[in-house]
Amino acid sequence: MSNEALAPNPPTDAPQELPKVVEFKNVTKTYSPGTPRAYTAIKDVSFTVDDLPGVGELIAVLGPSGCGKSTVLRLIAGLEPQHPATSGEVLVQGKPVTGPGADRGMVFQEYTAFDNRTVLDNIAFGLECLGVPKPVRHQRALEWIGKVGLCPERDAFKYPHQLSGGMRQRVAIARTLILKPRILLMDEPFGALDPMTRLRMQDLLIDLWKCAEATVFFVTHSIEEAVFLGDRIYIFSSAPGTIIEEIHAPRQKLPAVEAQALPEFAERVRYIREKIAKMESDAGVL
Ligand SMILES: Nc1ncnc2c1ncn2[C@@H]1O[C@H](COP(=O)(O)OP(=O)(O)O)[C@@H](O)[C@H]1O
Ligand SMILES: [Mg+2]
Repeated sequence: MSNEALAPNPPTDAPQELPKVVEFKNVTKTYSPGTPRAYTAIKDVSFTVDDLPGVGELIAVLGPSGCGKSTVLRLIAGLEPQHPATSGEVLVQGKPVTGPGADRGMVFQEYTAFDNRTVLDNIAFGLECLGVPKPVRHQRALEWIGKVGLCPERDAFKYPHQLSGGMRQRVAIARTLILKPRILLMDEPFGALDPMTRLRMQDLLIDLWKCAEATVFFVTHSIEEAVFLGDRIYIFSSAPGTIIEEIHAPRQKLPAVEAQALPEFAERVRYIREKIAKMESDAGVL
């Protein structure tokens, strides 16, 4: 055995790297490369989300339509054709993403559920795939129906077409969180909801997220939503998207309706709106 193998642990004041939940290193994505249709959606995107034990951050990804927000999210999820990146590295918990995995759950804007399955069986679907016995998965799914604010007695045996948009997104959230993902990827999940339902869903997300210990990436083009939900906001430029600013935004511990009526909330929204307007006028997008 070499002396090196017997060396004591390095001194504790040596700089220690925090483990990372997600890391992008100079990530560029070009669709249809090498063809006349080649299109670079994101360019040189780099960011790091540290793994803080017992807490997940809520990261709002904000930017105009077409700037590459979904591309970023789907690269983290490992979903084609966004995955793989054209260049750069996408790391999840220190390892390059090679495809989808149970550590990452996704909720889309478009409701995605099985029309021929009840609410209960939609929510239990992931557990069914894992081979969890029916009584156990139904029990867990019933608990989740309650956690997302639906009524187990009234709603469990409804089919998706019998639900409102807000109820459907509650099912989508339950179906993902029942699998306890370390990372929750949400792509404009409340974008199609009416304003009051949207505020209620924002409150629900905060409540669930406090217990879930998950890092949430929340894509939105609503500045208000990003400011209310985000611990951190990444502002993307127009395509090819790149992060133009990262803002730390301590959250108001108030319900959405009250927090969003505060003058300081309006001030933050204004600050970001001006930043985006300036970016767009500099880029000649008017
Ligand atoms: N599979 C694809 N093939 C070609 N272009 C794509 C594909 N997916 C997205 N794009 C283009 O890349 C840009 C960024 O898309 P996207 O990530 O969906 O933006 P966002 O979610 O911010 O609206 C858009 O201009 C879009 O048309
Ligand atoms: Mg999108």
